[in-house]
Amino acid sequence: MGNVIILGSQWGDEGKGKIVDVFSERFDIVARYQGGNNAGHTVFIGDRKFILKLIPSGILRPGKKAVIGNGLVIDPGALLAEIDALEQAGVAVKGNLFISNRAHVLFPAHRMMEKMSEARPGRVSIGTTSRGIGPCYEDKIGRRGIRIADLLVRDSFRAQYDAVMEEKVTIAKALGIYEPLDLAGIRDEYEKFAERIRPMVCDTALLLDRSMREGKTVMFEGAQGTMLDIDHGTYPFVTSSSASAGGACTGTGVPPTRISGVLGVSKAYITRVGGGPFPTEALDGAGEQIRKRGSEFGAVTGRPRRCGWFDVPLVRYTAVINGFDSLVVTKLDVLDEFDRIQVCVGYRRGPQELTEMPPTVAEIAQVEPVYECLPGWQTSTFGVASYDALPAKAKDYLAFLETRLGVEIGCISTGPERNQTIVRKGSRFEKLVG
Ligand code: GDP
Ligand code: IMO
Ligand code: MG
Repeated sequence: MGNVIILGSQWGDEGKGKIVDVFSERFDIVARYQGGNNAGHTVFIGDRKFILKLIPSGILRPGKKAVIGNGLVIDPGALLAEIDALEQAGVAVKGNLFISNRAHVLFPAHRMMEKMSEARPGRVSIGTTSRGIGPCYEDKIGRRGIRIADLLVRDSFRAQYDAVMEEKVTIAKALGIYEPLDLAGIRDEYEKFAERIRPMVCDTALLLDRSMREGKTVMFEGAQGTMLDIDHGTYPFVTSSSASAGGACTGTGVPPTRISGVLGVSKAYITRVGGGPFPTEALDGAGEQIRKRGSEFGAVTGRPRRCGWFDVPLVRYTAVINGFDSLVVTKLDVLDEFDRIQVCVGYRRGPQELTEMPPTVAEIAQVEPVYECLPGWQTSTFGVASYDALPAKAKDYLAFLETRLGVEIGCISTGPERNQTIVRKGSRFEKLVG
């Protein structure tokens, strides 16, 4: 066992939160490496439901350390609200949560700036979570961002904040997206936030390095999914961070030489929230049936998730980008009632057969999925906890995916609870996760 990255192989909401919660028991530290409170990971423990947005799902395991890496953008108000809610529910956060001093700070003005892309004539709306994530990352890449370490130095923070905000107000007024903000009031509020988070802040790259040298193991938790990655996803309908495995290194300061394996998480079908191309979207009754059985509504925004059939070329591609050692297939139980299950094995554009998704949104819009139809098992798999106990047709479905993807399926999830999980004996998954 070593240090393992677990991340989404589709467009997010694959069930990463549940999987990280289940297996974090076997690691000493869980580190999140990108994104912000656009993520929503729902975890059920008995009849208790937790929705994690910024804090790694590993926090739910007593005694484990949780790290928020430098690759994140942090809305301190949202973070503190999440900490308070967890502590009220009896989860020990303080003392176990470590926040990178290099992570970037998200301000209310970032949400205002989001209207540049989402609410202006002539711009195609991405359908973001409206949390200000993109504009905060823009400031980071534009080298004018304010980091947690800056927030903690009161005198220089004031000057830095005033300069950045003045620029935002000027741009927002020019573009007609300005909304009155109490800039001085927000600055005072952030200074108070700073004092509350100060005890949790450190150089988390050094903390991780020290811990690994002592023999401790780290699970890296991805948010979003590879097809939402800024470089490898369905650009521009993506988020603004590196959700793929490479992001785990840049987003925590842990070198690639320390990573032992990469695990992808995929639904037994596929969903997407927000705009953008989606070749296998089921706009008929099947999509509705998946949405209903899978409770496919956004954990952050409550939006209905768009639902469709498993897309093999898409996951084959994300397996290449991430180098998956093994795949976790979640929500198998959601397909229990279907008499026929479609799987996309390629695409067609006019007379042309394609084995890969093209790079532009315009081209993707022209592709038709090529489906193979598999028989459904029409038996409940809900809660099944051993591979042998799965119906034969469900095993055939998994075997079909495994062959077409060329990646082992080492773990299967059959319900939201911890014990509704199957680890295949002798798999790479078992070797990596212990
Ligand atoms: P994440 O963002 O990848 O962590 O996923 P979300 O939490 O946004 O969405 C996954 C949803 O599916 C959550 O409500 C989970 O409780 C639920 N879930 C996870 N695994 C399973 C499963 O195997 N079966 C069922 N029925 N629900 C699951
Ligand atoms: P988890 O971690 C699903 C989508 C948004 C939008 C696009 C950009 O729960 O899997 P953003 O606010 O990030 O600038 O929005 O990305 N998106 C997600 N979709 N799951 C998520 O997170 C998402 N985070 C962002 O819907 O299409
Ligand atoms: Mg989610």
